[in-house]
Amino acid sequence: MTFPGAIPTLTDGPVTLRAHRPSDAERCVEQCVDPESVRWTIVPTPYSLQDAHEFIGSRAKAWLDDTEWPFAVEFEGRFGGTVELRNEGPGRAEVAFGSHPDVRGTGAMERALRLLLRWGFEDRDLRTVIWWANEGNWASRKLAWRVGFSYDGCVRQWLEHRGDLTNAWAGTLLAGEPLQPREDWETASAR
Ligand SMILES: CC(C)(COP(=O)(O)OP(=O)(O)OC[C@H]1O[C@@H](n2cnc3c(N)ncnc32)[C@H](O)[C@@H]1OP(=O)(O)O)[C@@H](O)C(=O)NCCC(=O)NCCS
Repeated sequence: MTFPGAIPTLTDGPVTLRAHRPSDAERCVEQCVDPESVRWTIVPTPYSLQDAHEFIGSRAKAWLDDTEWPFAVEFEGRFGGTVELRNEGPGRAEVAFGSHPDVRGTGAMERALRLLLRWGFEDRDLRTVIWWANEGNWASRKLAWRVGFSYDGCVRQWLEHRGDLTNAWAGTLLAGEPLQPREDWETASAR
């Protein structure tokens, strides 16, 4: 694989997915010191500019290793977060995402995930994408629901989180399924 030319750029107009750049680092720090990111993800805390540069470097390496397919989300000309697929072997990947606080609630992450998922199914021949979230992460669950994931249940003590194991919500999206909610939110959130 030739790097970085092999990292695709995907866009639907308002949102563009592209390779991470060193100039994303400052907004990456702002994202990772945000309380919601600390609460629901395993970003280092405290989080420094050096952490951000290491993260950006690790995203490039992940493409080279073919272990993960990460994209920076660009929205209204600024870095808005990261979406990625983690390679789980032939036909399978895990989705992961996090946004800068000032991008939340804009619909940008929904667009970003549709771009990512479409690419994964078409370009990486995925059959199944799995979504995991710490139990109680409703913002994540709603976003997964918005782009078509099923809610498949809660796996006890499954996700590593700051020295502990937390219960994990899981959902899946299969090749060919619409990237749209499969039922209304009231029904989906009561499962
Ligand atoms: C997950 C994330 C990317 C979603 O971004 P987003 O789609 O722009 O959505 P928001 O953060 O604005 O989500 C809020 C939505 O969740 C809903 N929500 C939040 N807490 C809720 C709760 N306790 N119960 C029910 N709904 C809840 C809100 O009502 C809102 O819904 P609306 O968009 O219909 O008004 C973003 O919240 C984020 O970066 N979070 C921190 C990192 C993270 O959790 N990553 C995922 C790890 S699995």
